Amino acid sequence: MIPTPHIETTDKSLIAKTVLMPGDPLRAKFIADTFLEDVIQFNGVRNVLGYTGTYKGRKISVMASGMGMPSIGIYSYELYKFYDVENIIRIGSCGGYTADMKLYDVILAKDAWSESSFAKVQGGYESQVIEGSAELNARLLEIAKEIDIPVHVERIHSSDVFYREDFNAYKEIYEKHGCVAVEMESFALFHNANVTGKKAACLLTVSDNLVTHELTTSEERQLAFTNMMKIALEMAE
Ligand code: HPA
Repeated sequence: MIPTPHIETTDKSLIAKTVLMPGDPLRAKFIADTFLEDVIQFNGVRNVLGYTGTYKGRKISVMASGMGMPSIGIYSYELYKFYDVENIIRIGSCGGYTADMKLYDVILAKDAWSESSFAKVQGGYESQVIEGSAELNARLLEIAKEIDIPVHVERIHSSDVFYREDFNAYKEIYEKHGCVAVEMESFALFHNANVTGKKAACLLTVSDNLVTHELTTSEERQLAFTNMMKIALEMAE
């Protein structure tokens, strides 16, 4: 096969059927270095690092998405369409829209609401809500229960804008649409899974809270995010 514009390997078999997808390339490297064995690197284009290895003897890949829907839109589409990937599990950070979403809490995105035109432009999909895979979500929740990590199952907001002029806009998005947290990728990921006939899920760790103004440092995040990673890694096949 020929490589895609953004993924360099020409050997599909180097990528597992299930790919964990953090936003940050260095988090992908951290996961590979810390949790995987027999690791190979299959992508380095634009430093969007991608690795495959084994977790408890089962094969799994981890590759960064970059930030925002245009970026995850490119990488998830190429993985699904050209590399025969079946499942992508985004593992990201989010900002809490309610005081109940405490720092380091883990959220499983039941669905994503967005004002983005991504799904409409990509495939004529008109709704502003897209669900994650019920099958993957059920497995992730089962794993979380087994390893005793509490998870909120909620609707999240996928935003195109990190710095909004109207800081308080989130209040209406929570009240009208029921979104308890904000990130910037899931709506596009869920849409790409639907148009390619594949599956996607999204686990998030709360890294800041818009109500309480609490924040985590990048060092703290690296460690605390291991709860979410441990759940996702059990999806290795
Ligand atoms: N906004 C958007 N995306 C995010 C945030 C946020 O506050 N925190 C983590 N990802």
